Amino acid sequence: MEEATRRRITPTTTLLLALAVLAASVPAGFCAINPQDASALNAIQSQWTNAPLSWSSASDPCDGGWDGIMCSNGRVTSLRLSSVNIQGTLSDSVGQLTQLMYLDVSFNLGLNGRMPATIGNLAQLTTLILAGCSFTGAIPQQLGNLQQLSFLALNSNKFTGTIPPTLGLLSNLFWLDLADNQLTGSIPVSTATTPGLDQLTHTKHFHFNKNQLSGTLTGLFNSNMSLIHILFDSNQLTGPIPEELGGISSLQVLRLDRNSLKGTIPPNISNLVNLNELNLASNQLTGPLPDLSSMTKLNVVDLSNNSFAVSAAPNWFTTLTSLTSVSISSGKLSGAVPKGLFRLPQLQQVVLSNNEFNGTLEVTGNISSQLQAINLMNNGIAAANVTPSYNKTLVLLGNPGCVDPELKVFCSLKQERMIAYNTSLAKCSSTASCSSDQRLNPANCGCAYPYAGKMVFRAPLFTDLTNSATFQQLEASFTTQLSLRDGSVFLSDIHFNSDNYLQIQVALFPSSGVSFSVADLIRIGFDLSNQTYKPPSNFGPYYFIADPYALLAGASSRGSKKSHISTGAIAGIAVAGGILVIALIGMVLFALRQKRRVKEVTGRTDPFVSWGVSQKDSGGAPQLKGARLFSLNELKNCTNNFSDTHEIGSGGYGKVYKGTLVDGTRVAIKRAERGSMQGVVEFKNEIELLSRVHHRNLVSLIGFCYEQGEQMLVYEYVSSGTLRENLLVRGTYLDWKKRLRIALGSARGLAYLHELADPPIIHRDVKSTNILLDDHLKAKVADFGLSKLVADTQKGHVSTQVKGTLGYLDPEYYMTQQLSEKSDVYSFGVVMLELVSGRQPIESGKYIVREVKLAIDPNDRDHYGLRGLLDPAIRDNARTAGFRRFVQLAMLCVDESAAARPAMGEVVKDIEAMLQNEVSGPDGATSSAGSSANDFDGAGGGARSHPYSDVEITRGSYGDNASDYMPYFEVKPK
Ligand SMILES: *[C@@H]1O[C@H](CO)[C@@H](O)[C@H](O)[C@H]1NC(C)=O
Ligand SMILES: *[C@@H]1O[C@H](CO)[C@@H](O)[C@H](O)[C@H]1NC(C)=O
Ligand SMILES: *[C@@H]1O[C@H](CO)[C@@H](O)[C@H](O)[C@H]1NC(C)=O
Repeated sequence: MEEATRRRITPTTTLLLALAVLAASVPAGFCAINPQDASALNAIQSQWTNAPLSWSSASDPCDGGWDGIMCSNGRVTSLRLSSVNIQGTLSDSVGQLTQLMYLDVSFNLGLNGRMPATIGNLAQLTTLILAGCSFTGAIPQQLGNLQQLSFLALNSNKFTGTIPPTLGLLSNLFWLDLADNQLTGSIPVSTATTPGLDQLTHTKHFHFNKNQLSGTLTGLFNSNMSLIHILFDSNQLTGPIPEELGGISSLQVLRLDRNSLKGTIPPNISNLVNLNELNLASNQLTGPLPDLSSMTKLNVVDLSNNSFAVSAAPNWFTTLTSLTSVSISSGKLSGAVPKGLFRLPQLQQVVLSNNEFNGTLEVTGNISSQLQAINLMNNGIAAANVTPSYNKTLVLLGNPGCVDPELKVFCSLKQERMIAYNTSLAKCSSTASCSSDQRLNPANCGCAYPYAGKMVFRAPLFTDLTNSATFQQLEASFTTQLSLRDGSVFLSDIHFNSDNYLQIQVALFPSSGVSFSVADLIRIGFDLSNQTYKPPSNFGPYYFIADPYALLAGASSRGSKKSHISTGAIAGIAVAGGILVIALIGMVLFALRQKRRVKEVTGRTDPFVSWGVSQKDSGGAPQLKGARLFSLNELKNCTNNFSDTHEIGSGGYGKVYKGTLVDGTRVAIKRAERGSMQGVVEFKNEIELLSRVHHRNLVSLIGFCYEQGEQMLVYEYVSSGTLRENLLVRGTYLDWKKRLRIALGSARGLAYLHELADPPIIHRDVKSTNILLDDHLKAKVADFGLSKLVADTQKGHVSTQVKGTLGYLDPEYYMTQQLSEKSDVYSFGVVMLELVSGRQPIESGKYIVREVKLAIDPNDRDHYGLRGLLDPAIRDNARTAGFRRFVQLAMLCVDESAAARPAMGEVVKDIEAMLQNEVSGPDGATSSAGSSANDFDGAGGGARSHPYSDVEITRGSYGDNASDYMPYFEVKPK
């Protein structure tokens, strides 16, 4: 028996050795490109005069050396070349890259010709972005084959012809942007034999604006749809607004302006209670004005230039407190302008010119402090009372009252124009100037080549362009989300353009040096073209078109050096690929054979052997559940050698970098500094512990690196930053329900650590900067750096040196040094109060726990006594019972006595119940949006939701026994 085993192992060992030798002799290394993909890239490149320089080397495209290419197992999975000034056409050979998932060539104005129909062969494609190029011809109907496609952006090209009906087959599509082309014909609707866009029930975005589309909208809409943005403005659509539109209650932006729509507005449009913007201007609509009083989230309304019947000002003029802008020019409105209109608290702009308003205009009393402009040109107004505190624009030109000398000031157009915001360069010397294409970087007053372009917001929820806070939030969102230095954004030329879009010229500056690398351009271009970047929510949907990058555009005129992968290299790669296939098969066989003999082999495969410690010292190989070992080189490559631009945070232990692995996975790498390294045993214990903890609301460990004196932990990358940053930057975007969901997610993560992890874990540093949010605002608790196993507790508490963060620290633990799970509960209570107040726990020397405790007043029906402490973004929610329960629960969590605090599991159940009530409460109508997400956190599952969309929650049965929330936990056996 033993003999047999020994005889068997010899050939396999030899094979392994042979493999090692082979792998070392193939220059491209293990992931050499597949020959078919190599020849496709070669063909693609041969049609470009200006491919990135890195493409001209003879190196293997899959070894990370080619900008914009990512591979998996030798197959190209991602081709991303945004903003790199490619000139030429896109080769049909792109259709050979059959494992491609991402194709982004956005913002290359020199890329022209037809879009290859062979793209329809890319069965794995999820993301196709050709925005901002110069493609012509028709959109190929073969795109309908792309069953995995979720993101399709062909906007701002020169496509002609009709929209192919086959796009209706893209059942996974969530983003469809065809805007700003020259498309004609009607929008396809399905028939018994042909598909149509009415079948796109998962799509959230229909952006078809600025084309020449004609025909009617009949049959296009139905209540199975989950659209949130319909942008059809500036086309030639005719016929009525279909009644079925009223059934799409998920809708947030509806722009049908600048078409030739006729007939009356269907009354059931009032069902669109989630609408933020309604723009039906410049059509030929008739009948009465619609009743919008049920649309309590409406910010912007424009019904100008239609043919409505004569009427008085509608009631909702004075009741819709959410309104920021009301425009009904040429609306046949008569009688008095209701004075309550100007008292709507958020109102910024009123345009009611060319109506029949008469009597006396009253702009008096408690008028909106945000009001910037009132245009009542050409009405019948005889007199006006204007409060002296209103010194902004008021236009009364063309009214009978203009004969009154006191009103003269309002009767000319020469009133002071509001000066729109512009990023200040005041701190730079006034004589500073830069040569040629370089510009002043506001961050350091140095000269650099900015990445610049036009940012267009198609439906902003405000009209005030003078408010610096609004635009400084936009600047901050660029720097944080695109990993730029603070202050390195220059905004200029802010205005509403002729399409009534808010247009801004944006220049982004490199964090170091004078120019961006090609890799940076590709990354930033993709973040903007794929909508990974999200502006503050009041800016609404956007598109971006980059200017050609000055440095590269200059380079192109110097002439291009064409060079492809040489035929020899392809042959070499092909041979290598063949050998590798054989090698892989060999390895699989090897693995299978060895399966029963794991113990003997551990000595060879145990990564800890390479740590230079014997298994005795390290207590045996680590028990890793799914975490993998990374080589230092691998992590260097994906962080550009730990460059500053990849740094996303730092702390006592060292720095955190973000990076993208070859397979496209984004990761956060925590790299210990020399001084803060752990001993090998501690490091191993930490990895073991972390790799065992798997829960959707905990940041999970992907792997680690222990090489050349480095200790690094590789975590999943959570894209939208910390809760603290979000509270700071995104303000009103985080409405009450979103905050409840964030609280619930984090509570679930902690409950898992306390109650289901084995052994249980006390976090010890729960705070808003340790709660991360993903694209869907799903909360993930991070940083178990200070975690303590409860296993070594005695009688439920651990006596240990006090650690934690001021402001979140449990006073009982601080005094007694007795640590228990209840210390985490205390800290979590503080986080709950942060969610309510938006403030840091300690601000201006005031401690939030004490402030809230002193302020609570159960008799204050409107604000529960907390008016001065509330985050303005949720002030309206303070009236609800749910809000009170939340504050009460937070106060229980921060009770001075640990024993009086609830357990984390109880906190979870309470918040679940609150959220349930929010959903089914008076506002609960919104939950009928037809989402199939049976997932309480609104993330994961099959539901894709766009950053702007309010992640939907559907009603479900969430009972109160533990097993009901068990499914959210992925319990990995020890
Ligand atoms: C204003 O117009 C309405 C309707 O056109 C009319 O009934 C009313 O008498 C007018 N009021 C004044 C003060 O002229
Ligand atoms: C307008 O009024 C505000 C406050 O009442 C004042 O600060 C500002 O200087 C005034 N602006 C002009 C142009 O008079
Ligand atoms: C592109 O955007 C989509 C939708 O927002 C998102 O699901 C996807 O992860 C993004 N891709 C990358 C590589 O970030």
